[in-house]
Amino acid sequence: MDFNKLRSDFPIFKKHPELVYFDNACTTLKPQCVVDAVVSYYTEHTACSGRSAHKLAKETDIKFEEARKKVAKFVGASESELVWTKNTTEGINLVANSFDFKASGRKKTVTTNLEHHSAILPFQLLASDGQISVDFVEVDESGTISDETWSERIDRDTALVVVHHSNNTLGTKSNLRHIIKVAHDAGALVLVDGAQGVPHCEVNFKRDNYDFLAFSGHKMLGPTGIGCLVGRKELLTQLRPFSVGGGTIQNVKLPEGTTYLEPPQRFEAGIQHYSGAIGLGAAADYLSKTGMRNVQLHEQALSSKLYGVLSSLDGVKIYGPQIAKDHGALFSFNLGKGKPHEVALMLDHLNIAVRSGLFCAQPAMEVMGAKDGAVRASLYLYNTLAEIDMFEEKMKKIAQLYK
Ligand code: ALA
Repeated sequence: MDFNKLRSDFPIFKKHPELVYFDNACTTLKPQCVVDAVVSYYTEHTACSGRSAHKLAKETDIKFEEARKKVAKFVGASESELVWTKNTTEGINLVANSFDFKASGRKKTVTTNLEHHSAILPFQLLASDGQISVDFVEVDESGTISDETWSERIDRDTALVVVHHSNNTLGTKSNLRHIIKVAHDAGALVLVDGAQGVPHCEVNFKRDNYDFLAFSGHKMLGPTGIGCLVGRKELLTQLRPFSVGGGTIQNVKLPEGTTYLEPPQRFEAGIQHYSGAIGLGAAADYLSKTGMRNVQLHEQALSSKLYGVLSSLDGVKIYGPQIAKDHGALFSFNLGKGKPHEVALMLDHLNIAVRSGLFCAQPAMEVMGAKDGAVRASLYLYNTLAEIDMFEEKMKKIAQLYK
């Protein structure tokens, strides 16, 4: 696979030939095929799916459901298990607000202090009025959570474990095999936040025994505003829809007695983001064609080099494990007394785009000793070793200012 050649699939590099884009954990660039797929909905078959009987609507039906099939296959699930959402956040909120904690006879959710806010807040809100309790497993100073800690904290009061596949502040991966085994042995379910995992390595929902998996399209070359919640069919059937309306019902009776469609349609109220779903289908095709193993190997080579650069720069503190291979494709760091936004703006001035701040993970950043935030460089398949050389050169210049 020639990753240098693949850059020509991304039209943004034509408009910004100097751009070094290292903000992929926030959102990714889009290949032309995704843009074309989105545009085709508006130029070739604009219509509502599942409603009208005309030809355009039929075509939208077909393309929308084809996209569902492609994306479900991409994560090793069947199409009846994939609910379209706006993004990962909406998928997690859907589970939080629809899961019947009462019927499970358990009130406890176990999660970690490393999670993105979107995996913490929906459960914290439920806990605030006593509906559930939340137990936050704490990361150690190296940025990891041991298998023993998980085994101690998941117990027979646990209804749900909510955990990242790959972390958006440190790049570390959860040992999902262990967590899922412990949870299932205790009779608990696991909701995996796949936002930073699905775009970067092969994820197989069925083979790996996930119960729920939420992820976003825009972090995997797809459009913004489209994401997925994948759930085991029998679990989706038990969830109570929390957003209802057109497209979700079998029969509407007054004053009561309305019946709902089977999942996934039961959870897809109102007109959907058809162009987004179709675009995400094209992104899944693109990544499948590239091969997720190839993507992973490419990222490993980049990460190893980037870690070498960062760790050799004077005054740089890298958060999390002090070994490249445990960082996935991202590194959060600070540079001496440089304020994160200041460093990021200087990099931007030199055409390198990174993110700075708390990364929607304030507790994680506080526990890692970066309460005022950090700079984050996150990589993807179109990044190159030459870009890391450029990053090194520019970082050296910036580092001079903080000597
Ligand atoms: N969740 C995204 C990030 O980590 C926005 O940057």
